[in-house]
Amino acid sequence: MGLNLDLGLQGRSLLALAELTDHQVLGLVDLAINLKARKLAGTHIAAPLLRGRNLCLVFEKASTRTRCATVVAARDEGASTEYLGKGDIHFGKKESVADSARVLGRMFDGILFRGYAHRTVEILAEHAGVPVWNGLTDDWHPTQILADLQTIKEHFGQLKGLKVVFVGDGRNNVCNSLMVGCAMAGVHVVDCCPPELAPSEHVLALARRAAERNGSTVTVSHDPVTAVKGANVLYTDVWVSMGEESQFRERVELLRPFQIDMAMVERTGNLAGDRVIFLHCLPAFHNDETEVTMESGALEVTDDVFEAPFSKVFEEAENRMHTIKAMILASLA
Ligand code: CP
Ligand code: NVA
Repeated sequence: MGLNLDLGLQGRSLLALAELTDHQVLGLVDLAINLKARKLAGTHIAAPLLRGRNLCLVFEKASTRTRCATVVAARDEGASTEYLGKGDIHFGKKESVADSARVLGRMFDGILFRGYAHRTVEILAEHAGVPVWNGLTDDWHPTQILADLQTIKEHFGQLKGLKVVFVGDGRNNVCNSLMVGCAMAGVHVVDCCPPELAPSEHVLALARRAAERNGSTVTVSHDPVTAVKGANVLYTDVWVSMGEESQFRERVELLRPFQIDMAMVERTGNLAGDRVIFLHCLPAFHNDETEVTMESGALEVTDDVFEAPFSKVFEEAENRMHTIKAMILASLA
């Protein structure tokens, strides 16, 4: 199978989708779709593309998908990985981020970072001398949205002209990247959120500029009744992101009217004919089987929606691996 690894990203970092061209974003999605087929066929075993490479994962925050996706993607292609969690290295505590970056860059071929301040991943990229990939910061989650676009394309066979409605915390990392990524793919996007949690002017401007190039629209709505009409994708995320735990109570009060339930899915008008899917970056609160929901009962999505046939959240989770592999290969192979 012919893989198009030449997306003009060799040696480059990926900190936010807006650094890429629209063509590069779509190219990474298509590459991931091809890598998924290649893995299914087992072809990668005989011809790994990253043999002898060493990658490290610097993580300040917890992760299931991003960490495992990166480790498996690397291993599939013959690369090794080292996980450096909070407290494992001197990073920012006994050594500046810039110094750690210069050390890690002398030893590793690429660095995937997950953490708090977006500035930290920028400093890493400025000093490492090797590609640095953003595995989530407070501001952006670019690799998540590559997987979301892959999942949408796999279901609908296209991206351009579809309508994605994000319902929830309209200014978090996932929503920010979703708006920009969808606009770069010509997807109409609505950010449906309480006024207190509306996106920044900066993010809106980036998304609107991309939408203009691609003939789509970027809208903010505060009305979960009307905003979802015609949606092909209903998307949500947790109401309280990592690092914001102290705001739990007020966040839940603001977002309760924005919970995705079956009535909301029906209001899209697209349930018949498989014209709507539900996506969530995960982890999700949809039942009382987590410590947090046992205490709070705060769910961003009801269990019947989460478990419905139109919920593609586990395909989406799997696609994290194929898209992260696409990104690493485009940078290093
Ligand atoms: N969606 C996502 O980034 O999941 P993790 O926090 O488990 O990596
Ligand atoms: N917005 C969430 C995404 C988790 C993948 C967070 O930052 O915690």
